[in-house]
Amino acid sequence: MAQNWTPTSWRQKPVSQVPDFPDAAALAATEAQLATYPPLVFAGEARNLKKALANVSEGRGFLLQGGDCAESFAEHGADTIRDFFRAFLQMAVVLTFGAQQPVVKVGRIAGQFAKPRSSNIERQGDTELASYRGDIINGIDFTPESRVPNPERQIMAYRQSAATLNLLRAFAMGGYANLDNVHQWMLGFVKDSPQAERYRKLADRISETMDFMKAIGITPETNPSLRETDFFTSHEALLLGYEQALTRVDSTSGDWYATSGHMIWIGDRTRQPDHAHVEYCRGIRNPIGLKCGPSMTADGLIELIDILNPANEAGRLTLICRFGHDKVAEHLPRLIRAVQREGKKVVWSCDPMHGNTITLNSYKTRPFERILSEVESFFQIHRAEGTHPGGIHIEMTGNDVTECTGGARALSGADLGDRYHTHCDPRLNADQALELAFLLAERMKGGRDEKRMLVNGWA
Ligand code: TRP
Ligand code: MN
Repeated sequence: MAQNWTPTSWRQKPVSQVPDFPDAAALAATEAQLATYPPLVFAGEARNLKKALANVSEGRGFLLQGGDCAESFAEHGADTIRDFFRAFLQMAVVLTFGAQQPVVKVGRIAGQFAKPRSSNIERQGDTELASYRGDIINGIDFTPESRVPNPERQIMAYRQSAATLNLLRAFAMGGYANLDNVHQWMLGFVKDSPQAERYRKLADRISETMDFMKAIGITPETNPSLRETDFFTSHEALLLGYEQALTRVDSTSGDWYATSGHMIWIGDRTRQPDHAHVEYCRGIRNPIGLKCGPSMTADGLIELIDILNPANEAGRLTLICRFGHDKVAEHLPRLIRAVQREGKKVVWSCDPMHGNTITLNSYKTRPFERILSEVESFFQIHRAEGTHPGGIHIEMTGNDVTECTGGARALSGADLGDRYHTHCDPRLNADQALELAFLLAERMKGGRDEKRMLVNGWA
């Protein structure tokens, strides 16, 4: 167990990005109430995820992590959850085939509510108000009342997370994730895509494989693993009072676990080694993520790894790199070399979203080409360094939004206003997300077969 650690020891440390709640007594009452509620996830599940990620860190798997930038109370509904899961599972099938390895499926969902902000203040015209920090803290409406941090929102976030997770578990285990279904949806996507010709090659090979399995008697009816899938949840562990209230001792191991989600991560703005967020995360035994941006030094990274994973346990730590398409070549190799030199066990994951945000027609957006370019560089660099490109971390939705430009339907700056719904950062829509999976799968197959790489025009 971590030394000198308790679920409250973070309170002794400096903390950034956690707002001041005006009513301290109300906050304490809410946290006390949350501490009596059932855990959202069970420690054994977090351990299973850690085992799956340990395989990824050893080169035997791929992590797909994705979901909203920020979940919202207003958009909480069955259709949103279903459409997300549908797009996500299709990506998973395509990536499983591309990687020829198990894909570890982790949603940014059922708890992804709190947002770090670059400024404490938002200005609109002559008015300045406190920034929106996610539905678990305050409201997005630009009014003074809505922007006051309100502890009641934590109860709502907890209940929404429970309901979301409940539906996802039903989908994952109750037949919705049946490989035959997911395959049919994927074929529908390919048929309607402007890039149909290109994607059909891969889709046909998946179809053939499914037909072959059927012919030899491996069907969803005979084989439960074809109709069920393991799906895990994750979010940024930003609002530490909420996390603390859901931190529980696992009765089977005696260890502390965050039970707000299977995996939690530390943001690039809150990863100071002597601050509260690192302190909290070092003591819980879940798999954790660490966002690494351009300001991460090699020494700083090794220091954090030593704090967060002193036993060098495989699967414990996922490094989520978010440099930007034009900066990844400058920063990733030095971090990989430091980790290799020190023999640290990590999963390398690529977040191609957060370093590629621009403003266009006064919308925050992300060009699809830059997202793809960062992922491609990530793969190339790992191949050159002899390390395993272990996963991707993306912001996506199952809905047909217009938030990121580009993609097969060539969304332009002028289209952004049509369906720009995000509460925070721009997300890939369902088509763009699936397209990314197809392009990545092509590249993965190319990685194993240089000849095919030439044929597909990637060289
Ligand atoms: N159980 C396997 C897995 O999770 C196969 C599988 C079933 C699957 N349904 C799926 C894979 C949906 C991807 C998507 O890998
Ligand atoms: Mn974001």
